[in-house]
Amino acid sequence: MAHTFIIFGASGDLTCRKLIPALYELFRKDRLPADTQIVGFSRSPFTHEAWRAALKESTEKFIGSAFDAAQFDTFAKQIFYQPGDLTSPDDLVALKTFLDGRESGDNCTRVYYLATSPRFYQPAITNLGSSGLANETCGNRRVVIEKPFGTNLATANALNRIVHQVFDESQVYRIDHYLGKETVQNILVLRFANSIFEPIWNRNFIDHVQITVAEEVQIGSRGDYYDGAGVLRDMFQNHLLQLLMITAMESPSRYEADRVRDEKVKVLQAIRPLAETAVAEDTLRGIYRGYHDEPGVAADSQTATFAAVKLWIDNWRWQGVPFYLRSGKAMSCRTTQIVIQFRQPPLMLFSDRGGSARDANRLVIQVQPAEGIQLQFETKVPDAEMRLRMTDLDFRFGREFPAAMPDAYQRLLLDAMHGDASLFARADEVELAWGIIDPILAAWADQGAAGLEVYEPSGWGPERSTSWMRSQGREWFDTCPVLH
Ligand code: BG6
Repeated sequence: MAHTFIIFGASGDLTCRKLIPALYELFRKDRLPADTQIVGFSRSPFTHEAWRAALKESTEKFIGSAFDAAQFDTFAKQIFYQPGDLTSPDDLVALKTFLDGRESGDNCTRVYYLATSPRFYQPAITNLGSSGLANETCGNRRVVIEKPFGTNLATANALNRIVHQVFDESQVYRIDHYLGKETVQNILVLRFANSIFEPIWNRNFIDHVQITVAEEVQIGSRGDYYDGAGVLRDMFQNHLLQLLMITAMESPSRYEADRVRDEKVKVLQAIRPLAETAVAEDTLRGIYRGYHDEPGVAADSQTATFAAVKLWIDNWRWQGVPFYLRSGKAMSCRTTQIVIQFRQPPLMLFSDRGGSARDANRLVIQVQPAEGIQLQFETKVPDAEMRLRMTDLDFRFGREFPAAMPDAYQRLLLDAMHGDASLFARADEVELAWGIIDPILAAWADQGAAGLEVYEPSGWGPERSTSWMRSQGREWFDTCPVLH
């Protein structure tokens, strides 16, 4: 079956940095469906040759030593460019004529990838509909939509309505690149392809769960976007809630897109709504020193660059187990990790014999930078009476599977081409996630600057984050990275 992969926003950063390198890697691995063509569409006046040359240069830059110029030239024979403005219905009709002319036979699938600024999602989808590009007269038509999908529940809901006027939900692929990360998929495998974890993966054994996405980077040149978004919209509504869903969901009865997403949605539905009073107690936010000097940031901005949120999942498995989510820019270290903090043993048998009662078992899933899993447990220190020490069992992807870890986009682009939406967000999932974030944003807006703590770059966020956790008898797991 012939596939055509059409990129809207072809001259943009995402196309050069992620999409074309991922497609090139898939080509190198011989994973692209036979006869795949890639068509770029944007306002820049490239010819086919000029676009291929620009992509060759950018791909070499982003792929590094794995780049092979001769191989790229072979790959580039499948690449084409059609200039146009996606807000112009006529230009989309011209695109349709171009695509129809390039496809042969009656079995051709198209994937439309919206790699544009989000303000173009609506006109792009409407014009895909009016130009006939969405009609499934010849193979499937799918649309991939980048984040952010809306800026709150109302806008996400409105966008979903527009999307559904043109596409059936089964044709829609809302991308969250965290779901394409190997280690995130491995959480599903860890939980549902092994029998030893499931019996202890619940309130009877787990004290709490921490999900941390810490980034060293600051806002840099992204101030225009970020200052309007902030950490909750940028990281929590999508990436952190996705990690929470994967960690907390029940096993689907089959590994199929809708069965997986049904189970994820049930987690979001079970999250206890944060009433305004609870927002003050169960969330905290910060802004790194120097944020206001970044280009594109308002001088009086109250946009949070760090947040910590405590969520409760009201179901039988998780009742009484808090999920702590935190993320920030300008932190001391880059890591994404999920910490399953188990309860203390019921009897501290060795505490009066020099044994330590400090730590309980911990399972750390390090999503990045070095992907792996660490199980921490107490051991007797030799020749030291009954003194105990926390030690660990480590699993590192890099050691076990020395080939380079693929970038998340490779898996996701291939899945979209093959029509597997398991690792993409469904309409209800996105809206439920906004339903969790919106009340926090509203309460923060009411609080104004009160509660927005300035933190020093290169630490672990606001000082109150540590005292907030301690006041609940817990500690953040601030080891970074756990695995090298
Ligand atoms: C993006 C956010 O979705 O994810 C960025 O917009 C963030 O602000 C990035 O830096 C983090 O992705 P990763 O894969 O580097 O953890």
